[in-house]
Amino acid sequence: MSKAQTFGEFIMDRQAEFPFVSGQLTRLLTDIGVAAKIVNQQVNRAGLTSILGASGNTNIQNEQQQKLDVFADDTFMRILSAGKSVCGIGSEEREDFVLCGESGEGRTGKYIVLIDPLDGSSNIDVNVSIGTIFSIVRRITPMGEPLSEADFLQPGTAQVAAGYILYGSSTMLLCTTGSGVNGFTLDPAVGEFFLSHPAMTFPNRGNTYSINDAVKAKSNSATQAFVDGCREAVDAGFRGRYIGSLVADFHRNLIHGGIYLYPSTTDKPQGKLRLLYECAPLAWIAEQAGGLAVDDSGRIMDKVPESLHDRSPYYVGIRHLVEGLQACRLAPEDAYVANDPAAASGGEHLH
Ligand code: AHG
Ligand code: MN
Ligand code: MN
Repeated sequence: MSKAQTFGEFIMDRQAEFPFVSGQLTRLLTDIGVAAKIVNQQVNRAGLTSILGASGNTNIQNEQQQKLDVFADDTFMRILSAGKSVCGIGSEEREDFVLCGESGEGRTGKYIVLIDPLDGSSNIDVNVSIGTIFSIVRRITPMGEPLSEADFLQPGTAQVAAGYILYGSSTMLLCTTGSGVNGFTLDPAVGEFFLSHPAMTFPNRGNTYSINDAVKAKSNSATQAFVDGCREAVDAGFRGRYIGSLVADFHRNLIHGGIYLYPSTTDKPQGKLRLLYECAPLAWIAEQAGGLAVDDSGRIMDKVPESLHDRSPYYVGIRHLVEGLQACRLAPEDAYVANDPAAASGGEHLH
């Protein structure tokens, strides 16, 4: 009789596939699963406890912190820093990198975690899907030496694992270690993530576009042209869908086929999303699932961050739509793309 594979079993079985085989990475991913279950418990009970609402503090990005933001950040920090495989953590909720280990200098542990502990904070108290995004890179500084800033500021191509947890109608954990994307669904009765979506890929075609409509007018001309084209393609089945939680919007577009845009705007040339713990991990997942992730000039994965909270314009999703957007940057004769995003990939019918 076959038995569903748990997340823990899956990563143990796949350990040999990880680059630079290491029990530490297995341990680290297991810890992420444990922390996710603890956060999930609080997310599920949010309306019953006094945990809803603002914490009264603002984070480094001047955003109002929600109590669940703080709870999620504390939970991941506590569990990951206790696990011995992590030497440093960069979190959306903390101004500076956190160094782990006994000396507090990050001398031990092979891995660095960059994390958005709770993504989609504005959706917490309206009972709409939220998430957690994580990115894992290997330390550059030799073991035994104190960590330096360069250990944290690595491009997306340096990631050894990346993933997200989606606290949605069910709770899912998706991750990649560079050999495809696998999705696990939490069975709350058993308290385990089970492999439910092996080898996930974007569908070949898709017709969903996701953007905060209010920023469109201030966005770059390619975004404006592309979105106008999507709107005009409504009869071809195009539809706008925007939840306002990056993880949830990304996940829907991964399953149904779509593109998510957080563009550069006149007042925010770097857009809103953060490179290290939002854009890069989802870019790797997108690429591993056959999609694309770019900024205004090229591949997100190649961008080298200058600081922990760097932002980046972000366009991610199914390949033909991201390429359609990129084509909007070309000469006016390519403007047909704006009028018919389907034409970006040879004018095939959309499904
Ligand atoms: P966070 O809650 O971690 O700060 O992230 C919010 C992000 C992202 O989840 C979402 O897609 C985007 O901000 C929404 O921004 P707008 O409210 O400008 O649409
Ligand atoms: Mn976020
Ligand atoms: Mn967040």
